[in-house]
Amino acid sequence: MTTTHSLGQAARQILTQNDKGSYTIPTKGLYPYQWNWDSAIAALGFAEFDINRAWVELETLFSGQWADGMVPHILFHQPDSGYFPGPDVWGCGGPIPSSGIIQPPIAASMARRIWEKDTVAGASRMVVLYPKMLAWHRWIMQWRLDRGAVCTTHPWETGRDNAPDWDNTMARMNASDVGEYTRRDTAHVNSDDRPTKFDYDRYIKLVQLGRKLNWDQAALREQSPFRVADPTMTFTTLGAARDLLAMGTELGFDTIGLAEDIQTLEAGAATLWNTDLGAFDSRDVLSGEWAECLSNASYLCWLGGIESDQMMDRLRNTLETVPYPVPSNDPDSDTFDARRYWRGPTWAVVNMLIGLGLEQQGHHAEAAELARKTGALISEHGFAEYFDPLSGSPAGGKSFTWTAAVWLAWAGEE
Ligand code: SER
Repeated sequence: MTTTHSLGQAARQILTQNDKGSYTIPTKGLYPYQWNWDSAIAALGFAEFDINRAWVELETLFSGQWADGMVPHILFHQPDSGYFPGPDVWGCGGPIPSSGIIQPPIAASMARRIWEKDTVAGASRMVVLYPKMLAWHRWIMQWRLDRGAVCTTHPWETGRDNAPDWDNTMARMNASDVGEYTRRDTAHVNSDDRPTKFDYDRYIKLVQLGRKLNWDQAALREQSPFRVADPTMTFTTLGAARDLLAMGTELGFDTIGLAEDIQTLEAGAATLWNTDLGAFDSRDVLSGEWAECLSNASYLCWLGGIESDQMMDRLRNTLETVPYPVPSNDPDSDTFDARRYWRGPTWAVVNMLIGLGLEQQGHHAEAAELARKTGALISEHGFAEYFDPLSGSPAGGKSFTWTAAVWLAWAGEE
């Protein structure tokens, strides 16, 4: 049996192996670049044993920030033919070759936790980082709001690529002219664990549209068929805004507009409550339709500082009834698929974000229970990208950075 101590060593080793010097790849082969929210989680993991390296991770991420404040979802630091779509497909012009979309903006929330570990060293790193994080927040507020909720403009932005949340929106898209392309993901991992070709055609079609419009946000808002107000983007933006306000106030930095933004986002979060479903849901901005999806992102409300008795009842029920919670899709839903990426599997990283939110809101018993169950899942089944919520079996990439970081920062017993 593997001991907690040796699991801690294994987790550190994964971070070290995936460390490219100033940034960390999520896993070798499948994801060979710096991903935005993966990187913020890696930083939290590094902070457990090398706080300087944690700051470097975030600093490298923000070195890819565009002049308008946007922080891309992938930074292509070095060419790698093992990944598609690479920088040549995206056709973006930032300081580092990159994608043209964002990811859940958790960097500020992770930075706050790293800063709290060492406020003296953190204060000097924050002098440079904070204005960049604030600029990204302001970019999101400028370009992505619908009735105060934050919209995703590509399934990849939420990180929840093939979640059923987007099914109706994607079904309305025509991708018949997407052309020939070769996927690389299914050369690295089992294709049953990955999105379908139907979904991939639409992912690529949206990249082609962004490129055609030069990643001009005003034009994309007018022309893109994909604009969905979503719990992932809304709750992470809200949590980040609160963390920026707290840090900015403490450090005497610019906090102009943050308190008003928080009110706007709180009102936006309320527009994601689907009364019939009894859960926070995604809302297609163009059609006005609910996705009718209870996902693991629905439980990020606490990370955004939003209370909900109904979500708490659901969480307690999930913790009791699902063998390896929290599933990314409701096991009772027709769309549930235990192994296919975001259509069922449990993601340790989302569990941690849910758990950090629960702790922050004072729900200590539920936070501890979720951390314990996540720790048991990792210790039984390894540092996989995600897991079958019914059997616990590992799926997707192995030796995964954020799963290792989750162990070190939250789910491990050390
Ligand atoms: N998750 C996407 C992929 O699998 C990109 O962020 O490539």
